[in-house]
Amino acid sequence: MKKYDFLIVGSGLFGSVFAHEMTKMGKKCLVIEKRDHKGGNVYCESVEGINVHKYGPHIFHTNDKGIWDYVNSFVEFNNFIYSPLANYQGQLFNLPFNMNTFYQLWKIGNPKEVEKKIKEQIEKENITAPQNLEDQAISMVGADIYNVFIKGYTEKQWGRKAKELPKFIIKRLPVRFTYDNNYFNDTYQGIPIGGYNKLIDGLLDGIEVRTGVDFFKDRNELIQITDRVVFTGKLDEFYDYKFGHLQYRSLRFEHKYLNLPNYQGVAGINFTDLNVPYTRIIEHKHFEFGKQKGTVITKEYPQEWSLGSEAFYPINDRMNMERLGVYQRLAKKEEKVIFGGRLAEYKYYDMHQVIASALSKVKKIIQADTMP
Ligand code: FDA
Repeated sequence: MKKYDFLIVGSGLFGSVFAHEMTKMGKKCLVIEKRDHKGGNVYCESVEGINVHKYGPHIFHTNDKGIWDYVNSFVEFNNFIYSPLANYQGQLFNLPFNMNTFYQLWKIGNPKEVEKKIKEQIEKENITAPQNLEDQAISMVGADIYNVFIKGYTEKQWGRKAKELPKFIIKRLPVRFTYDNNYFNDTYQGIPIGGYNKLIDGLLDGIEVRTGVDFFKDRNELIQITDRVVFTGKLDEFYDYKFGHLQYRSLRFEHKYLNLPNYQGVAGINFTDLNVPYTRIIEHKHFEFGKQKGTVITKEYPQEWSLGSEAFYPINDRMNMERLGVYQRLAKKEEKVIFGGRLAEYKYYDMHQVIASALSKVKKIIQADTMP
């Protein structure tokens, strides 16, 4: 008999939920993590008592009461509501696009008049068959909103002109005709009180975790000690990139401690002008209504991805999706390896979705294992 039922590669939300649930079912799990900390991309680093979202700001939001109760069973969440601002050439606007934004942009305060204004702008451009992201966005919200809020931000995000980007990137551009700055539409929202590490610690409580261990360095020895592997790393890496790389968009974070209590008065400001090199500034203490003496801000710079840099956003274009299909066909044939999470599935997942996915995977495996 092998020492472990499951070797779980990666201690992000997928790996941690999987390990927790299987341990509850009496399975023996070992979690390995190549970084020097647990938690994957939701990990927070404590700086002068402030939980710094080291891999980008994370706001938990869901409509699923079951998932909300699940996370709250490990740590209590606060009532933080994400209401970011946009800074365009020094002027501040509320986000997401709502009556506050439109008033700030056009000084029109009546919903019907705003609807009319947007409709006129769309009609003026008369784009019937959008060919690229720029056309697509203008045909949905008109030129003013596009030029102030979308063009520069999107071009920085993707490192390409909006006219060269495919239109499928923008499927929806929600506009609200109410004065409502709540970024997410979900019923349940918040931040774990004390940070995301508390959620991960709760999930992994009592489970053996080894950090600083890269699966690929000790692959042969590691598979000897386990019955099955749960792999949450990069799918193409698992197969030694033999059909080429799956590409990503990356980010660089510039974190800075400032000796002042309040830098920008809000958790997030998006910089929508192309001339500002970063896309947003996050001030972490505001996620938890922090009262610390100092503050930590993070400037987020989108970057080209290359092998070795952090993989953040999958690029779901045709080339990558075809390549993914080839790897997925290999993965399907594995009998002792389970793939899950954002990297192994090459898919953008929100936190509530990745938790739901891990719970559903556990359920399926338990059902299959107990079938006569
Ligand atoms: P995750 O990447 O967290 O974990 C995988 C782990 O596997 C990593 O720790 C990695 O080091 C480890 N690993 C990989 N290869 C390995 C190997 N060979 N050996 C050992 N370990 C290995 N969602 C949301 O709901 N609200 C939000 O506000 C945000 N914000 C946000 C901002 C940014 C910038 C990004 C990129 C993403 C978000 N998200 C989000 C999404 C959220 O980050 C995501 O849902 C989870 O982190 C996914 O968890 P996983 O476990 O799938 O991956």
